[in-house]
Amino acid sequence: MATLLRIDSSISGEASFSRRLTAAFAHSWAEAGGEVVTRDLHAEQIPHLPHPGLHFPHREGVPEDSPGRALQDELIEEALAADAFVIGAPLYNYSVPSTLRAWTDYLHVPGRTAGTPASAGPLAGRPVVLLSTRGAAYDQPGQEELLDHAVPALRALLGSALGMDVEAITVDRTLAEVIPALDRERASALFADALDRASARGRELAASLL
Ligand SMILES: Cc1cc2nc3c(=O)[nH]c(=O)nc-3n(C[C@H](O)[C@H](O)[C@H](O)COP(=O)(O)O)c2cc1C
Repeated sequence: MATLLRIDSSISGEASFSRRLTAAFAHSWAEAGGEVVTRDLHAEQIPHLPHPGLHFPHREGVPEDSPGRALQDELIEEALAADAFVIGAPLYNYSVPSTLRAWTDYLHVPGRTAGTPASAGPLAGRPVVLLSTRGAAYDQPGQEELLDHAVPALRALLGSALGMDVEAITVDRTLAEVIPALDRERASALFADALDRASARGRELAASLL
């Protein structure tokens, strides 16, 4: 049975758009017979990485009793046990929520989770679907490059450093309910389309891995 690791990071609870997308994706996955493991980085927050030595496989200088060691092992083992990932990645202040950023700091260890020039890392080739939600509109040329550092940063880390197979579904204008200029009707059509795409992708990916 293939395992999906579902990661959420939105602070908005049931009103969250990204959580609705990850839920739809995971629902399709489970319906196809896959197992889903959920990590909610907002409900169960992890501390910032406490020591620079945790970025390296030998953990030089990290006290033996540092709680960061056990937490990092737990997060890495959980990731290594997953066949695929779906990550709810809301855009907060031009980047990912700090809770999600903290998770990446524990996960990225060159020579442990990331490969070396000589060999690929253990996560290489694993699929990861980013479900990114943004409050504003990004229709003007150059706007996205200037103002969205969430998906690009995750692509660099998960794709370039860890070698994972990264794809993203992004939906804009989620703040249309509070900012009428964003056009409620258009926003709700965009979100409905993203929900359909997330469900379909969960189903397809599960079918290819189960
Ligand atoms: C702390 C915070 C910062 C935000 N920063 C941005 C931003 O930089 N750009 C943007 O387009 N929307 C921003 N928004 C709006 C969110 O991207 C939007 O509400 C989105 O739906 C968040 O995903 P969620 O609904 O899953 O929480 C921000 C929202 C919050 C709560």
